[in-house]
Amino acid sequence: MKDTDSTLAQFDQAGAERLEKIYLTPDVVQQREQIFQLLDVKPGMHALDIGCGPGLTSLSLAQAVGNSGHVDAIDIAPPMLQLAARRCADAKQVAFHQADVLQLPFADATFDVALATQVYEYVADIDDALSELWRVMKPGAQVLLVDTDWESCVWACRDEARMRRIMQGWSQHIPHPQLPRTLIQRMQGAGFADVQAHTIPLMNMNYSTDTFSGGMMGFIASFVGGLPDFGPQLAADWQADVQTMKDAGGYFFSLNRFVFVARKP
Ligand SMILES: C[S@@+](CC[C@H](N)C(=O)[O-])C[C@H]1O[C@@H](n2cnc3c(N)ncnc32)[C@H](O)[C@@H]1O
Repeated sequence: MKDTDSTLAQFDQAGAERLEKIYLTPDVVQQREQIFQLLDVKPGMHALDIGCGPGLTSLSLAQAVGNSGHVDAIDIAPPMLQLAARRCADAKQVAFHQADVLQLPFADATFDVALATQVYEYVADIDDALSELWRVMKPGAQVLLVDTDWESCVWACRDEARMRRIMQGWSQHIPHPQLPRTLIQRMQGAGFADVQAHTIPLMNMNYSTDTFSGGMMGFIASFVGGLPDFGPQLAADWQADVQTMKDAGGYFFSLNRFVFVARKP
């Protein structure tokens, strides 16, 4: 299966709505606010939201650039673009486009600022995608990329061997499950300068469906349960094990998001 086919399968209507719900939990809302503080976006700017998903970052960009600015938001998955367009219906300064990060439908040197949160890890040809990003940015423009290293995931359970197996299955949902550790060099290779790196942890000390980990559990179980050699029973047993940790010594989840901020010279 091609990577874009796998992405489109993960973000069908149900997948897109499930992700939107997770991204509206208080811990992810707080994480998004922390990330936004690292962005140098001002009224009147022309901003790009790459892989906009349900449009949460597109709306924040629209508010930051104001009526005198403009936001172009792209995504490959039509269900995501529908959610995003609905969310930003009152923000006339935002335009949505169905496009691949490898072929951005914009002229050279168009944007003052660009944001891609949790997108490049889905893209096999990451170096070509970064060159394409470089092309559409103005000289002096700022880019901010967020990706996850799934090996930074700490999740308390009883059966550690099963947890490792589930995480090994989950790592197949994207071509670059450890992208952050090579992203600085890749960004520099594409021509970006002054790359600054930050870590933002997501931590849940209680089990609730209204948290990042509580929501992701179902996402992970349905992906891994559908893989050959894994199956729904293994995924369900893992889910039950992790959920019951709240009664057996304490629920504990932590995962690092890595944020990279750079400029086009
Ligand atoms: C995990 S979601 C993140 C959504 C959004 N950036 C956010 O943080 O709320 C990843 C998004 O990247 C999009 N995506 C993945 N590969 C893409 C590609 N090659 N071109 C454009 N969008 C892509 C997916 O469709 C999905 O909406």
